Amino acid sequence: MTFDWDASKYSKLAALQAEAGERLINALCIQNHDSILDIGCGVGNLTLKLAALAGEGLVLGIDASPSMIEKAKELTRRSNRRNIEFRVMSIAQAGFQVRFDVVFSNSALHWVKDIEPTLLAIRRALRPEGRIGLQFPLLTPAHPLVAISQKTIEALGFQKEYEDWEFPWYVPTSVQDFADLLQKTGFQQIDVQSDETGYRFETAAAVLNFFDTVGVLHSSPLSAEQKSVFKSKCLEILTGMAGSDGSVGLVFPRLFALASI
Ligand SMILES: C[S@@+](CC[C@H](N)C(=O)[O-])C[C@H]1O[C@@H](n2cnc3c(N)ncnc32)[C@H](O)[C@@H]1O
Repeated sequence: MTFDWDASKYSKLAALQAEAGERLINALCIQNHDSILDIGCGVGNLTLKLAALAGEGLVLGIDASPSMIEKAKELTRRSNRRNIEFRVMSIAQAGFQVRFDVVFSNSALHWVKDIEPTLLAIRRALRPEGRIGLQFPLLTPAHPLVAISQKTIEALGFQKEYEDWEFPWYVPTSVQDFADLLQKTGFQQIDVQSDETGYRFETAAAVLNFFDTVGVLHSSPLSAEQKSVFKSKCLEILTGMAGSDGSVGLVFPRLFALASI
């Protein structure tokens, strides 16, 4: 599933993803000559970090959203980095063959419901001894985005609207399930771990903005009017969860995967 994102809004609110992405970059031990593909690169902040580490290599960022790629190009122009390119391209279109030392993807693969063909495409894109670093949120019923959306739906009696709605995100049934899938698609030295990152938002409105930016309402079956009602109710629920200083602490489950071929 793809849609166009609000790149300016996203770049202001993506601190949580950036934190996880930096952890993934560190774990990958990027080498100076590495050629790197960044799948679902968004506004390119992490792609730029990869390009700085692979100073003699080339980094290609792809994203299905034209506004994200436009913003990424703008950031890159300001940075003066030369070893970086961006292309509007969905993961499904990516047919690279034996071209990259590293495939990196941060907070994007949960948008790919049919993950196996994508893992095979990633495998084909890698050079011998190539490696991958993947991170994506685990959108289980316990994930704050899912749990609080569910609470909002129930509070508003919107269950009927969601009856035929297809849940938009890929969620592996377990860490082992994803590790097995990596093995099946040709990877080895597999290290898959789940993690729970605590994050404190300054206000309930900041949480709602974050949910809105990462997709809570993009693909929902609600009308524009219902979306607005949804947002107000969601804000009310989040405000009820705030501490005395108005901040809201949430815990985000994520999956980190490293492997090589
Ligand atoms: C939450 S953002 C993450 C961006 C960036 N990697 C980061 O960590 O900040 C998810 C990105 O995945 C992109 N995306 C979603 N589905 C995609 C697909 N099928 N092909 C390419 N990009 C996709 C979206 O357009 C969006 O920019």
